[in-house]
Amino acid sequence: QRRPRAFSGIQPTAGSFHLGNYLGAIRQYVALQETHDAFYSVVDLHAVTVPQDPAELRANSRLAAAQLLAAGLDPERCTLFVQSHVPEHAQLAWLMNCITGFGEASRMTQFKDKSARHGADQATVGLFTYPMLMVADILLYDADAVPVGEDQRQHLELTRNLAERFNSRFGATFKVPEPHILKEVAKIYDLQDPSVKMSKSASTPKGLVNLLDEPKATAKKFKSAVTDTDTEIRFDAEAKPGVSNLLTIYSTLTGAGIPELEQKYAGKGYGALKTDLAEVMVEFVTPFRERTQAYLDDPETLDSILAKGAEKARTVASETLAQAYDRVGF
Ligand code: ADP
Ligand code: NA
Repeated sequence: QRRPRAFSGIQPTAGSFHLGNYLGAIRQYVALQETHDAFYSVVDLHAVTVPQDPAELRANSRLAAAQLLAAGLDPERCTLFVQSHVPEHAQLAWLMNCITGFGEASRMTQFKDKSARHGADQATVGLFTYPMLMVADILLYDADAVPVGEDQRQHLELTRNLAERFNSRFGATFKVPEPHILKEVAKIYDLQDPSVKMSKSASTPKGLVNLLDEPKATAKKFKSAVTDTDTEIRFDAEAKPGVSNLLTIYSTLTGAGIPELEQKYAGKGYGALKTDLAEVMVEFVTPFRERTQAYLDDPETLDSILAKGAEKARTVASETLAQAYDRVGF
């Protein structure tokens, strides 16, 4: 019996993934490879919807793959590949573009947000059609599970709509994926401003925990994390966002329950929590950095993993694409 399929894509970013990426996404990828036939893609086609330097993009894609492997993706148990190595993504995206209404695409809120950020007249047509590429990413693999956060709900809805539309127009072709929003997933906030999500673009350097930073610098960031003027260590996202964020990080990294942590630190000050969490982080990032570096120092191994991943992905993707192309009359 076939294991359920999972697909997820993550964009290559400059430098390093951050703690929010790890706890909010990559950790789930690692867990899903145990239960699912999982396909994970470094989505460089998505990355070029905004300007990229070619040499940097290539380096960032390899760095992303190295970090995913360092985080625990096992090429024997999942399929890890770079999106541009599998041309079927762009090929199916074209069909998706051709069954999407212009008005329908215009209602995608992420495009509105992103184009506003880059300046409306700077936005590319690629950025506009990004959701249809994402739809193709998912449909190529008959994915049952698409581990994404709440912010991707609209894109998953579009995936269902386009799959159903294609199927009713051309005959049953695509699996219609169930929305599989990860509700339990930790959302990590900025260490200096716990009212905003930790993010590459919005966080200040002190509030952003990059996984590849010097462990000592990371420990320092935790020791100077913003909390509140109270002293009680208690989870309360509304009243105590800073402390709650630290508890979430601590709990997610160690597996200790929040009530357990509240008890452990009852009567102790914020300093004790921060010092211990800093140590937990150092223990996590030290081997993570070493493993990432080991992959970067051995480009042959890394390239061979990615080549095998692309080959495995193409086996599945080419079959789906061939069927879809046949259905539309190509
Ligand atoms: P960023 O917001 O830093 O640009 P991305 O949007 O590229 O990061 O996110 C990549 C993945 O990491 C997505 O699955 C996203 O939901 C997750 N993610 C990003 N930031 C956080 C965060 N602060 N907390 C939890 N998950 C996050
Ligand atoms: Na983002």
